[in-house]
Amino acid sequence: MNSLPQPSASPASAVTREALVHQLYEAAELEHNLMCTYLYAAFSLKSGTGEGLSAQEADATARWRQAILHVAIEEMGHLTAVWNITAALGGSPRFGRMNFPLDTGGLPASVVVRLEPFSAAVLQHFIYLERPDNSAEPDGEGFSPDFTFTRGDIRNRVTPMPVDYDTVGAFYKNLSANLVAFVARVGEKAAFCGDRNLQISRKEIDFQGCDPVICAKTALAAFDAIVSQGEGASEENPDSHYCRFLRIRDELQALKAANPAFQPAYPAAVNPVLRRPVRAGKRVWLENEDAAATVDVANSAYMLMLRLLSHTYLLPRPHPAKALCIDLALGLMRAMAPLAEQAARLPAGPSNPGCNAGMSFTALRDAAPLPPGPSAEKFFVERLQELVGGARALAVSLQTPRVAQALKVLEDLAQRAERRFPGVFAETAAIPAARGAQAAPAPAAAAAAVPAAAAAPATGTAVGAAVIEPGNVAPTPRTVDGVDYIEGRDLTLIYEGKKCIHSRFCVTWGPKVFIANVKGPWINPDNMSVDALTEIAHVCVSGAIRYKRKDGKPDEAPPPVNLVSVREGGPYAIRADIKLDGAPAVSHRLTLCRCGASKNKPFCDGSHHEVHFAASGEPPTGKADMLPVRDGPLAIDPETDGPLQVRGNMEIISGTGRVVARLESARLCRCGASNNKPFCDNSHVRIGFRSS
Ligand code: FES
Repeated sequence: MNSLPQPSASPASAVTREALVHQLYEAAELEHNLMCTYLYAAFSLKSGTGEGLSAQEADATARWRQAILHVAIEEMGHLTAVWNITAALGGSPRFGRMNFPLDTGGLPASVVVRLEPFSAAVLQHFIYLERPDNSAEPDGEGFSPDFTFTRGDIRNRVTPMPVDYDTVGAFYKNLSANLVAFVARVGEKAAFCGDRNLQISRKEIDFQGCDPVICAKTALAAFDAIVSQGEGASEENPDSHYCRFLRIRDELQALKAANPAFQPAYPAAVNPVLRRPVRAGKRVWLENEDAAATVDVANSAYMLMLRLLSHTYLLPRPHPAKALCIDLALGLMRAMAPLAEQAARLPAGPSNPGCNAGMSFTALRDAAPLPPGPSAEKFFVERLQELVGGARALAVSLQTPRVAQALKVLEDLAQRAERRFPGVFAETAAIPAARGAQAAPAPAAAAAAVPAAAAAPATGTAVGAAVIEPGNVAPTPRTVDGVDYIEGRDLTLIYEGKKCIHSRFCVTWGPKVFIANVKGPWINPDNMSVDALTEIAHVCVSGAIRYKRKDGKPDEAPPPVNLVSVREGGPYAIRADIKLDGAPAVSHRLTLCRCGASKNKPFCDGSHHEVHFAASGEPPTGKADMLPVRDGPLAIDPETDGPLQVRGNMEIISGTGRVVARLESARLCRCGASNNKPFCDNSHVRIGFRSS
């Protein structure tokens, strides 16, 4: 920020922690409300030529939708930064907000916020909201306040008082000045007394806004980032929300000039409400039962998302439930979006002819975090099941692809919650030991455990103790769930063919053990020393070859550095102490699909060859600062119809071994379409990627 901002308190009064938290609550409401209005407009946009658009118009509305959703996601990042600053100051972040239409006085008269479908006037309103201080952009037509008022009170009060501001940038300047004044009065250590492990960090999600707030410098940097990226951004920043909206306006004007009948959006309601309004004002009651039922499930998904996010601020890091809550919350957004789009395509009801419905973003009375522990888990699982029930009923009455998509996401989330929540507290207790860098490597029990069913020969052919000399016939494997167990004298060799990506290290490094081009049994473990054979297993990138030693020596240990290798035109090759979708992986080595074509997702099955997947194995180097710890658990959670969410210390390397990035969390593309490979850029939405 350029000029020194002034605190809002009068000289006689000192800025208090309560006043700062109060102002941060307004910041949270502001970001939250803006996010809802942007989402509402994006969901109302028509899609494709099937909805009455020309090819050129359809292309434009698809891009606008993406651009507005991207702005909304960045508002979510701003919101997270505000939550983190609140937590750093010892406060409890605000997740609730007033329902639409907002009560007068909740925000200054100059900041009008309401749910309204995309139009030239709404776009102009967005430009006005995001304008820099020196902008002369007018507000959108119809967005002037019903009456003007002031909220500020310069008299000395113990009770925090709201401030007035013309632009969002001015609000953050004032907030920054208040923070500086507070820190100057109480000292930095006392000011930032909150447990930093409660904040959402990039360990949980690599998301702008998730940087830790530990001091005045980091807090002010977060405010500065909010202002420079979005509201009040300078006109020179082409990536600011303001400039992005200006570009949409230019395009809209050109398309309208070419086709004055162009209607880019459905006539969704202004401030829809689910029940008969008890007050007059700009709101539309959704009488159409299909529309109301759609909005009902969408709202419930939104509310549960808020609850899950608020819950994360009670869970100190490292806590697997923290990441799980964030994943479920983001998943609920993916269920909410198609339902909100569906609502905009349904009539509102007989009292409002020509008007469609829309998601009302109804917030319940409170979104306070639930007491942590099994009761919260029960609450979340129960609620997800209720949402599945609601979506199933909806899918019976409204058989549309959007409702089906939402149902699929909700079912997946409910199953994931049921499967994952019960173990997370036990997992948490185990983390410090597992992370101890000096701890002796645990035997990779899970990596090479022989299932009980495999302990006894399935066929009665006792080959386990036989000494097989070179040239002898390879022993017949026992096969359990598609995995072959081949008994050698000092080791059980495990081979899982459907994971094999044919790197051919086995047949080229140990041709006497892995005998190519023979019919029937082809692996003869006793034709090589055990140590040499385990070395071959270790270079099998896919983990298709594993082993269990019988000579008393330790089995394969997790690597000292977690590696995610990006293979040219091929999969991710991962080496780490891997947890895949919440369960220990069978191997410390895995290859996961990144082309989107595997029939055995998330694993690679070689389909990248069939689809001629063209993707560089040499992406550019980005954030590569050394990590304080380089090993430890690596949790990989494949998102339904989306990327791989990876959490833990990792070095992403190119096919030639160059460092691409060193990160603590990443969303890795697995649809094959990202323009920012290996990272997800949400292209999976554009291409309609399906993970199952
Ligand atoms: S999974 Fe490919 S862009 Fe997201």
